Amino acid sequence: MPQPHLYVARTLTPAVMAELDDLGLPVVAGEEAPPARDRLLAGIAGAAAAIVTLTERVDAELLDAAGPQLRVVANVAVGYDNIDLEAAAERGVVVCNTPGVLDDATADHTFAMLLATTRRVVEADRFARTGRPWIWGPNMLVGLDISADATLGIVGFGRIGRAVARRAHAFGMRVITSDPGLNVGDAVDGVTVVGFEELLATADVVSLHVPLLPSTRHLIDASALARMRPRSYLVNAARGGVVDESALIDALRSGHLAGAALDTFEGEPRINPEFAGLENVVLQPHIASAGDRTRDAMCRLAVRNVTRVLAGEPAETPVRTPVATA
Ligand code: DGY
Repeated sequence: MPQPHLYVARTLTPAVMAELDDLGLPVVAGEEAPPARDRLLAGIAGAAAAIVTLTERVDAELLDAAGPQLRVVANVAVGYDNIDLEAAAERGVVVCNTPGVLDDATADHTFAMLLATTRRVVEADRFARTGRPWIWGPNMLVGLDISADATLGIVGFGRIGRAVARRAHAFGMRVITSDPGLNVGDAVDGVTVVGFEELLATADVVSLHVPLLPSTRHLIDASALARMRPRSYLVNAARGGVVDESALIDALRSGHLAGAALDTFEGEPRINPEFAGLENVVLQPHIASAGDRTRDAMCRLAVRNVTRVLAGEPAETPVRTPVATA
């Protein structure tokens, strides 16, 4: 019987790829692009451990293809909606994610998107590149002054939501949050906890930081969008499925929402082509955690989780019961 291997579904960062040889077990590594399903099923067969990313669906079929010697699946992401936790638990497979190490990078990028949409940065760049004649004017490309008492509503006050709040405070924003794990009326880190309805009705900018769960799918649907303040903004660096994209397109087209910035999409990597025709949306290809040190840290944490479980120790960051915040 060959020694069970570590299956690495996709190329990790160069520094981490270079260290895999030191692990002392055979490594079968995929490529930069996500493997096709048949290659994924073949690659994981006989593995003791697998490092996957959010592009790999880990379900009963995949776990069965791996075989009973599979002990751990480490996701290189904090989100784990690509993994069937129940199927893994039934087979005694430990599932790990990468919380903590990407909070700052994700919050930085969320804030970059917030500024990009409220101050029309990408739209202005597009305009400047057209070569069309222009001259400074009091009404040219005016956006929202976030530092002048604008309210940021953070939906989901986990680590990333809190890191976004710190940045918003530094910019002089008023910050409110809604999170089912917190009591309405409390103040946490200088942020007032409100109900979801109040957040929608009050915030100038709504930023989403919840995991994708059955309870959060289409949390921002046509009705929620209608309850948002007229001319407010939506930022989504969580998961595309949290937003009903057709309803968002309608809200952006009608002008009810002044703008949106999206890092994640319902049918990723496909982006609804209707977004591309809208000036008031900033589109990012799921890069909020793409800081150089952060990506190394995510990959390293996944490797540490694997080595610990294979050594019979508890994983450093096992996925526990799904909660409502990321
Ligand atoms: C995650 O970690 O869940 C992000 O979406 C990718 O960094």
